[in-house]
Amino acid sequence: MLSNTAGYQDRIGMTRTLVIANQKGGVGKSTSVMNLSIALAAHGQRVLLVDLDPQGGLTGAFGLDSYNMQHSAFSLLMSAHPSVGRVLYKLRERLALVPASLDLAAAEIRLANAPQRALRLRQALQQNPTPFDFILIDTPPGLGVLTANGLVAADEVIIPVQCQYLAMRGVRALLETVVRVRKHLNPSLRLGGVFATMYRPNSTHAREVVEEMRAVFGHKMFRTLIHYDEAVAEAPVAGVSLLEYAPTHPVAQGYRALAEEVAGGG
Ligand SMILES: Nc1ncnc2c1ncn2[C@@H]1O[C@H](COP(=O)(O)OP(=O)(O)OP(=O)(O)O)[C@@H](O)[C@H]1O
Ligand SMILES: [Mg+2]
Repeated sequence: MLSNTAGYQDRIGMTRTLVIANQKGGVGKSTSVMNLSIALAAHGQRVLLVDLDPQGGLTGAFGLDSYNMQHSAFSLLMSAHPSVGRVLYKLRERLALVPASLDLAAAEIRLANAPQRALRLRQALQQNPTPFDFILIDTPPGLGVLTANGLVAADEVIIPVQCQYLAMRGVRALLETVVRVRKHLNPSLRLGGVFATMYRPNSTHAREVVEEMRAVFGHKMFRTLIHYDEAVAEAPVAGVSLLEYAPTHPVAQGYRALAEEVAGGG
C-alpha cells in the first residue's frame, strides 16, 4: 500500500509521461487513469491528466461536461502556440486535467493529412514544461491519430487488459504500433507494463487470461490484479473516483497497489 515512500520517485524536476492505451473499447482505461491519478496525488505526486478521447470518458468521470468545455486538449493538438497552463483545470490538490471536448473528433479528421500529425501533443508538452511529477494520458479506443499522439508524447505505455476471451488479440496490434512509433517517431517510448482488469477470481477463463499475460509479458506484467466489481461503475456517477467514494473497497486497494508498482517502475 502507499503508506510509505518506497518505490516513489524522489527525482526533482523530472516528469514521467505515461499513456494508458488499449485499442479495445471499455477495458477500463479511463477508470484506471482516474483511480491511479488519485492514488498518486494522495501520495504527494503532482499529476496532470490529459483526456484525448472525444467521448470524454475521463473528463465526465470527474464531473466535467466535455460537450461544454471552453478549453480542452483540442488546442494542444491544433494551436500554433499551445499553452498547457491555459487549458488545464484544477481537480484536486496536486491534480489537474486537460479535458476532452467534442471537437477532438474534428481534430482527428483535420489532422488526418497534416504533416507531423502524431507529434502535436509531444511538441505542445515540450514547449510547456510543467511542474508535474506525472502526466497521465487517456486515449480513445482504436489506433488512430489521437492515440498516436498519446504514444508519441509518452515515455511509457501502460496497457490494461480485460480478463476476457480474445483480450490479448488487440494487445498484439497495439504492441506492433508501439514498435512502429518507437522506430519512427519516439525512440524513447517503452512498455511500462501491462495489467489485468475486471478480473473475476472464480472464473477459470479469467485465470487463464492472466496466465497467458504472465507468460507473454513476464516481468512487464504488474502483479496487481484489478478485480471486477459493480461498485466501480457506480463511483463516477458521483463525479468522484472509487478511491474517494469507497476508499477501503478491494478495487480501490488494488488501484493503490498498482499505483505503487507504476511509480516504482521509473
Ligand atoms: N474493475 C471494474 N469492475 C467493474 N466495472 C468496471 C471496472 N473497471 C471499469 N469498469 C466499468 O467498465 C466500463 C468501461 O470502463 P472505462 O470507461 O474505464 O473503459 P475505457 O477503456 O476507458 O473505455 P473506452 O475505450 O470506451 O474509453 C465503465 O462503465 C466502467 O465503470
Ligand atoms: Mg475511456
